[in-house]
Amino acid sequence: MFAYRCALKTVFMALVLHLIPANVRQALHLYCSVVGFYICSSACPEGRWGPNCEKHCQCLNGATCDPWDGRCLCQRGWRGKYCSEECPPDRYGQDCSEICRCSNGGSCDHISGECLCAPGWTGPLCGSSCPEGTHGKECSSECRCQNGGTCNPTTGKCYCTPGWTGDVCGNRCPPGFWGVNCSKSCDCYNGATCHHITGKCECLPGFTGPMCNLQCPVGKYGKDCAFNCSCQNDGKCSFEDGKCTCSAGWIGDHCESRMCPDGLYGEDCNGRCECLAENSEVCHPWTGKCYCKPGWDGYDCSRPCPLYTYGKGCHLLCSCKNNAQCNPVNGSCSCAAGYHGENCSEPCPVGTFGENCAQRCNCRNRATCSNENGKCICPPGMHDSSYLMHEKF
Ligand SMILES: *[C@@H]1O[C@H](CO)[C@@H](O)[C@H](O)[C@H]1NC(C)=O
Ligand SMILES: *[C@@H]1O[C@H](CO)[C@@H](O)[C@H](O)[C@H]1NC(C)=O
Ligand SMILES: *[C@@H]1O[C@H](CO)[C@@H](O)[C@H](O)[C@H]1NC(C)=O
Ligand SMILES: *[C@@H]1O[C@H](CO)[C@@H](O)[C@H](O)[C@H]1NC(C)=O
Repeated sequence: MFAYRCALKTVFMALVLHLIPANVRQALHLYCSVVGFYICSSACPEGRWGPNCEKHCQCLNGATCDPWDGRCLCQRGWRGKYCSEECPPDRYGQDCSEICRCSNGGSCDHISGECLCAPGWTGPLCGSSCPEGTHGKECSSECRCQNGGTCNPTTGKCYCTPGWTGDVCGNRCPPGFWGVNCSKSCDCYNGATCHHITGKCECLPGFTGPMCNLQCPVGKYGKDCAFNCSCQNDGKCSFEDGKCTCSAGWIGDHCESRMCPDGLYGEDCNGRCECLAENSEVCHPWTGKCYCKPGWDGYDCSRPCPLYTYGKGCHLLCSCKNNAQCNPVNGSCSCAAGYHGENCSEPCPVGTFGENCAQRCNCRNRATCSNENGKCICPPGMHDSSYLMHEKF
């Protein structure tokens, strides 16, 4: 009976109290405390509840408690009997009734619903990957990848561009490898490595070709076969470093010197050269063979080149015409009388004759003369003896 009455009053008071301002309620509370009605608990000060406001609230995290029954009224983001627990990870707000909308593993603030993105993600709802060059929590770490490498937005691990490797892509592929992840093997020969990015072979000195499988051509050596061999006297040149291996009898870096003193030859340099000094270039220091100057021939270089030949070793053929003499040294022609031109192929110009075409014809009646001897050539009908007027100058 008493309980029933009390309940009625409670309902009544609750209605009334809701309609009156707080300061009035405070006054009412004073009155109530004096009178001591159960119902008066509706106006307890903060932190108290129950009849005569004797009980202490146990609510946490800013929650208020119901003045009648002490039940906790949680703030946004909290739950539980005493409001001691945060909303579950996928919920937030008043009574944890709102659903979190953060994506990609982001969690939301249990009060405001604001997203806390997982490492590597950003944006209001964590929908975007970290901007290039950043990674990690709140995209606040900088990528350390070098040489064009990109980093995993979550972990910061570097993905290197082709040809690079290492934690921060700071190292070239090890020798013999190239390309993405340095996973390709160089296809090069003779000790060559290849370019760490393109795989192009980089030949060692002395080798050439796309795969470095060819030796330098004869006469060339070194890196890219760019150097000319300089070995003389049949010396062999190393295609790798250009070093000369001299043939027997020769010494010096370029095999330029005779092993024996001038005029001597043979293993012990006790043979005597028989070359005619003025017509020979050298006496082979091993065999004693004479190497003649151009125009000279014979075992001791005492003979001029045979007819119609000239030059070094008498290997060249003269081109002189019309019985001209050929210079055995340089092949130049000395024309016979009546001819001129480089190879003496042309007769003297009309009106001249003789050696070097230096003489003039002297024939009457416009007769021409022999280019060789100047004899007049009479036109038909003219008598030879009456018109011949051949004069030597
Ligand atoms: C390179 O390595 C990464 C990580 O190990 C891998 O994910 C990728 O597929 C590799 N790429 C190639 C072309 O092998
Ligand atoms: C090698 O010889 C060629 C032809 O004689 C010449 O053109 C070139 O410049 C030379 N190269 C060097 C590096 O001396
Ligand atoms: C060839 O040699 C002769 C005699 O030494 C000389 O007079 C002449 O000018 C030379 N000719 C040429 C084309 O060098
Ligand atoms: C001789 O010289 C002429 C003109 O200079 C030339 O046309 C001709 O080919 C030469 N002959 C030879 C065999 O060199």
